[in-house]
Amino acid sequence: MARRVIPTLRAWVLLGALGALAPPARGFDEAAADRALAFARRQLEHTATDPAVPPTQSPKSSRGGPWKRVANTDRVGWTQGFFPGLVWFMFEPGREAVWRTRADTWTRPLEVQKSNRETHDLGFKFMPSYGHAYRLTGDPYYRDVLLEAARSLASRYHPEVGAIDCCDWNDPPWRVATVTDTLVDLELLFWAARNGGEPAWNDLALQHALTAARDMVRPDGGTWHVVDYDDTGRVRSKETFQGYADDSTWSRGQAWAVYGFTMAYRYTRDPRMLQAAREVTDYYLARLPADAVPPWDFDAPPSQQQKDSSAAAIAASALQELSTYATSTAEARRYREAALAMLDSLASPAYLAEGTTNPGILLHGTAFYRTRIKPSGDDIDASLIYGDYYFVEALGRFQRAAAGGWLSALAFPGAPHALGTSHTGVRVVDFDVTPLSQPIDGVIGYADSATVVTGYTDLALAVRLNAEGLVDARRGDAYGALAAVPYTAHTPLHVRLWVDLPARTYSVWVTPPGGAEVLLAERFPFRADAPPTDDLGQVAFKSERFDEAYRVTSHTVRAPTPQELLDGRPATRQPAPPDATAPLAEPPGRAGMGCQAGTGALLGLLGLVPWLARRRRAR
Ligand code: GLY
Repeated sequence: MARRVIPTLRAWVLLGALGALAPPARGFDEAAADRALAFARRQLEHTATDPAVPPTQSPKSSRGGPWKRVANTDRVGWTQGFFPGLVWFMFEPGREAVWRTRADTWTRPLEVQKSNRETHDLGFKFMPSYGHAYRLTGDPYYRDVLLEAARSLASRYHPEVGAIDCCDWNDPPWRVATVTDTLVDLELLFWAARNGGEPAWNDLALQHALTAARDMVRPDGGTWHVVDYDDTGRVRSKETFQGYADDSTWSRGQAWAVYGFTMAYRYTRDPRMLQAAREVTDYYLARLPADAVPPWDFDAPPSQQQKDSSAAAIAASALQELSTYATSTAEARRYREAALAMLDSLASPAYLAEGTTNPGILLHGTAFYRTRIKPSGDDIDASLIYGDYYFVEALGRFQRAAAGGWLSALAFPGAPHALGTSHTGVRVVDFDVTPLSQPIDGVIGYADSATVVTGYTDLALAVRLNAEGLVDARRGDAYGALAAVPYTAHTPLHVRLWVDLPARTYSVWVTPPGGAEVLLAERFPFRADAPPTDDLGQVAFKSERFDEAYRVTSHTVRAPTPQELLDGRPATRQPAPPDATAPLAEPPGRAGMGCQAGTGALLGLLGLVPWLARRRRAR
């Protein structure tokens, strides 16, 4: 192959320190994200309602003409999950029934793949389709399919190798082949292990990622696409199947590694995953051209340069997540700005399919460039459904981050946020919590600043959005609630706590939108098995099924006023006026602002009446 100039690892680090690893963001903002998403929505609506594209044939690629499609029954195909996933993304913000029906219609034909044991690509087929379906609806049908698919994927684990064998159909004479792509498939196992599947699936997935970090990542942070092993776990070959040459770096493979290690860190908080994610990311960023969209292979000679927008979309999504795990502000900014530079390019006329005949969202993807292994190539300079999927995921991540606040996390070491050491005695806490899905299982819990929070038992007090769709709070050894307060996706609830640290008790009020405060917990005791809690030093935003299940904004902790101390409770929150210029009106039945907690309970229950009536009507 042609001689290449690859900087050493030390040079990457130096470039990084100089802030040169990625071009600066050139102004990608919420308006640009909204515009791109509006275009995506139009394209997806067109495809989802096109009678020529039946839900048994998932769109895969286009070079300007109609979609090339792949049958739901194609066992080798890996792309069938992405179109349903895109349709679920369209359902997510507005939760319109029409998008749910479309998404479900495109998801269900994939059930036939759940017992497919010939491929590692079950993660790609099932997490975008059934994974989002379950995340956004809570329907156990979807979970059951995911768990069976995870069992099929786990069956491909090879214990001597410590990795998942990618595929049974390979042309090359591989024995136990692993590819960078599989790192992303692992999410199905990580997720399933936490949602009713075998806990061991987590360990298999982590072991696979560790094996890949050891054998697939080169000393300079680049990757081989394929590592093949014999049955004893000895490496037989290291290759770059979809790239230019065995010692070149296929850019989408590198992007899968960036995404996969980052996702593995999300689930496991294993520092080796974060380290691997950093190494492959720094390599990827250092090799980017000015428009932040890589060629299909970083080492392809000038005569074979061809962009791959799908690699850029995968990296743009992953880097936004990785930036939240950075250990310094500079590192977080570097990854985030790199992601925004990628989005800026992808959302520009150079890459967006707007104004073309292409039914996709992004142009200029490369599925399989002509290589010595596949001389004919496939889908070169095309819209690729996975490029579209990760682009829309990246835009969604951008919008969620732009909305501000704290997002919940799946892993405990990632869930807590420090509040300092000054919150002692009695404290009033206020925040708004917005479920981003429904139902979720999420906890907002508090611990002393000295506690290392690794599990629920470290949280002395906690408010929960429970799996039944109601809000409750920890009462000693179990959760309970004085009132049935439902929560609704995308609708903020205001929560107010009165925390008496010396007495080890707390009370909770919840204000549904447009409603009155409801007393949810009155002097509930702290968990008996929690560590000493002398201050409100940390708040943890933990969710069970998915991370980013809810958002907390306007979180404040303060000392009570003298009047509140006399009253033994915080001043009742006034509902927001109908418009900002109108004078604050006393809500009906709420004249006793300084009422004691007992009266507050009664008023709270009165405030609940419309909610209970609505729930009855719903049944
Ligand atoms: N997972 C196959 C590819 O990225 O082309």
